[in-house]
Amino acid sequence: MKVSVILGHPYPKSFNHAIAVAVVDTLQGNGHDVLFHDLYVEYFDPVIRGEELVTDCSEDRLVRVHCMEIREADGIIIIHPNWWGQPPAILKGWVDRVLREHVAYRFAEEDDGSGLPIGLLKAKAAIVFNTSNTPGERENSVFGDPLERIWRDCIFDFCGVKNYHRRMFRTIAGSTMQKRETWLQEARETVMMCFPQSDQ
Ligand SMILES: Cc1cc2nc3c(=O)[nH]c(=O)nc-3n(C[C@H](O)[C@H](O)[C@H](O)COP(=O)(O)O)c2cc1C
Repeated sequence: MKVSVILGHPYPKSFNHAIAVAVVDTLQGNGHDVLFHDLYVEYFDPVIRGEELVTDCSEDRLVRVHCMEIREADGIIIIHPNWWGQPPAILKGWVDRVLREHVAYRFAEEDDGSGLPIGLLKAKAAIVFNTSNTPGERENSVFGDPLERIWRDCIFDFCGVKNYHRRMFRTIAGSTMQKRETWLQEARETVMMCFPQSDQ
């Protein structure tokens, strides 16, 4: 299977990077074709400009590559920290520019865009790995876990990916190496479950 892995974190020694390494290793170990993108390393430009907004296509070569890959991906894995209840801006811009109409979703011909979207992503499964410092009880009761609504409902369900898994690793601040290794093992197991050994 072709699996797109998108990382949105600027610091190479972060726990997010450790998750990305574990994810990519596990996928490759299972024989999958991994399309890995570290958005900061490749200087992904998150700003959508007027011309791109009103056309069906981007002049940005990298955006075109991302659009092509995500359309073809059999699986998608997103990795990022919780920043103000949202993905980092670089990843938000990736969503704006890559998961665009006619790539990730479309509307029926007679629909002016206010109706129900038709998902175009063919990915059989999507996983989101997040990290944060807020304890779960406070995250749910005070903030309402906005990342769950964003990824599950606003993005993956909208684009037709129903088989969705998300894991928020918390709290990163003050966590021991042992705890982090347990979390990395959990990430590997989730990847194994969603993307088992390839037949080819
Ligand atoms: C700009 C910024 C905003 C943040 N906002 C939140 C937040 O809203 N909720 C939260 O629990 N943690 C927040 N954090 C903490 C990060 O989620 C935490 O540092 C990160 O998940 C740790 O993983 P890492 O070591 O891979 O960076 C924020 C951190 C930064 C830098």
